[in-house]
Amino acid sequence: MGKSWSQSVWIPNPPITEKNVSDQSGKVFMITGGNSGVGFELAKVLYGANAKVYIAGRSGKCVLEAIRLLRAEIPSSGGDLVWLPLDLADLTSVKIAVQELERNETRLDVLWNNAGVMCTPVTVKSEQGYDLQMGTNVLGPYLLTTLLHPIMRNTAETALISYVRVCWASSITIELSPRGGIEFDASGSPVLSNTKYTNYFVSKAANNLLAWEFGKKCQKENILSIASENISLFLMLQQSACVPIAFNPGNLDTGLTRYLTLPIVGSIVPRLISLVMWPPCYGAYDELYAEISPDLTIAKLTGA
Ligand SMILES: NC(=O)c1ccc[n+]([C@@H]2O[C@H](COP(=O)([O-])OP(=O)(O)OC[C@H]3O[C@@H](n4cnc5c(N)ncnc54)[C@H](OP(=O)(O)O)[C@@H]3O)[C@@H](O)[C@H]2O)c1
Repeated sequence: MGKSWSQSVWIPNPPITEKNVSDQSGKVFMITGGNSGVGFELAKVLYGANAKVYIAGRSGKCVLEAIRLLRAEIPSSGGDLVWLPLDLADLTSVKIAVQELERNETRLDVLWNNAGVMCTPVTVKSEQGYDLQMGTNVLGPYLLTTLLHPIMRNTAETALISYVRVCWASSITIELSPRGGIEFDASGSPVLSNTKYTNYFVSKAANNLLAWEFGKKCQKENILSIASENISLFLMLQQSACVPIAFNPGNLDTGLTRYLTLPIVGSIVPRLISLVMWPPCYGAYDELYAEISPDLTIAKLTGA
């Protein structure tokens, strides 16, 4: 665990960046929340590598502005950028988004479950009445992935081994979630906390568990499912026949912290935090590695 935390502060050099990324022509990616923060930086690298990138987001204004900026920054790209309307906090919208994608595409190479909210007040609910963090970070991505599974399975049939991937943005903060990641009640429902912080940790632990379950389900279908770092989960996975892989998006200076209410001791706390925050492109390099690195294969990682 020490290594995980220390790597969040003294980050290693990213192996893949916009400078050496391989050509992604012909591949179709979907990045949820690709209009800002880490997702935006990731879209930039992929678009620059000639990929077709669906930026799935809830605000047309924000996504279209992001697309405008990316097109202006990389005029030479042979790829494409498309807005896919999606509100993860509304399960109906998830279904409509998948139908829209399927109308326009016969393949989806990589789904990046990147969008998320952090520490929203416990009183704020998703459209279907769930805690907003659980709704946005867990239930929405779960439904999205489940509905996109058929198109990804078809893509994987003719794709190179382990090239079709589902990635889940987790967080090192899952180390702070309850034992096992999530506490379930007798009926099998997750027990949520009264504190918005714990609910964020739980939602991110849930991303790992979903990655694990989805990995098990689809490893024979040539689809690699990846979430982020958790040492205990990693050890657990070592004893199973699924696909463990660890990465932590990082401590990144993005809009994610907008709902944080930190104790302010003078201005010391924000200043200390800013010392360990990195530009969002480093999170994108992490996500990029998970998405396309040939180092990561189902065969190599299964049971590793
Ligand atoms: N920043 C970090 O240090 C860090 C560390 C570990 C993990 N992560 C994870 O990395 C991921 C990306 O976060 P970020 O740091 O890049 O934060 P960010 O800049 O706030 O980006 C979050 C994205 O999620 C989108 N989103 C939120 N609610 C949504 C909904 N209901 N439907 C569709 N999209 C929605 C946002 O769209 P709007 O613009 O419409 O709000 C935004 O584009 C998150 O899952 C986060 O938990 C971040």
